[in-house]
Amino acid sequence: MEIKAETAENSQPGISNWLGKVHQGDCIDLMNQMPAASIDLIVTSPPYNIKNSTGNGLRNGSGGKWPQAALLKGYAAHNDAMPHDEYVKWQRDCLSAMMRVLSEDGAIFYNHKWRVQGGLLQDRADIVAGFPVRQIIIWQRNGGINFNPGYFLPTYEVIYLIAKPKFKLAPKANAQGDVWRIPQETKNPHPAPFPLALAQKCVDATEAKVVLDPFIGSGTTAIAAELAGWRWIGMDISEEYCELARSRIRITQK
Ligand SMILES: C[S@@+](CC[C@H](N)C(=O)[O-])C[C@H]1O[C@@H](n2cnc3c(N)ncnc32)[C@H](O)[C@@H]1O
Repeated sequence: MEIKAETAENSQPGISNWLGKVHQGDCIDLMNQMPAASIDLIVTSPPYNIKNSTGNGLRNGSGGKWPQAALLKGYAAHNDAMPHDEYVKWQRDCLSAMMRVLSEDGAIFYNHKWRVQGGLLQDRADIVAGFPVRQIIIWQRNGGINFNPGYFLPTYEVIYLIAKPKFKLAPKANAQGDVWRIPQETKNPHPAPFPLALAQKCVDATEAKVVLDPFIGSGTTAIAAELAGWRWIGMDISEEYCELARSRIRITQK
């Protein structure tokens, strides 16, 4: 009997119940229920643990002047203030769960933000150490406000391209540079969405047929997948955000 290597394509029946839905729950629990190697692409932005920050613009007390101010309250169902080591372990567990569901030619676009903590740059190397990071893409956002006189206004976030060995970009996508200039989203009720153009750039740069976002928030990744004609799966811990995502996706589908 010929045993076929499990790929996202031939394991479709195992994930058919997951497709085209926003699932409420903890993403590690949910991903652990999915078949291995069932996803081609993951585009995601986790909570940044921004409330466990020594500053970085959130604690000036004026609030409401810039989009991130919404995060002063944390997320609807996640406080975003874990002890640092706990946060790093959690994110590494999330990445391990993502790697398990990813096919052998799959990749993760993992959006994160560096920060200055106690006067020192804290990149996210401790989270991604040991994972197959192939590239760091710079997402250059518009400027904002910097209340700290000790360093320049931060204007970029990063996207770690974490790729399985056989991952390739779509034809000609490799002609694009690794600095993406995209203004942040301002008209979204979610406290920390990424812009649709960012999710689209990730989705459109691959030939993925099945796209997962384990931290889907307002549904941006699913909307990008819908617009590209790919199938998608979304997950979020907050039922409020799941409903927000479902309603934004429904509008795209009309
Ligand atoms: C940075 S936001 C993602 C925003 C999304 N990219 C968008 O465009 O709307 C992170 C999301 O992770 C969710 N979250 C936090 N803990 C989670 C968990 N354990 N499992 C799944 N989702 C979680 C939060 O509710 C929040 O919506």
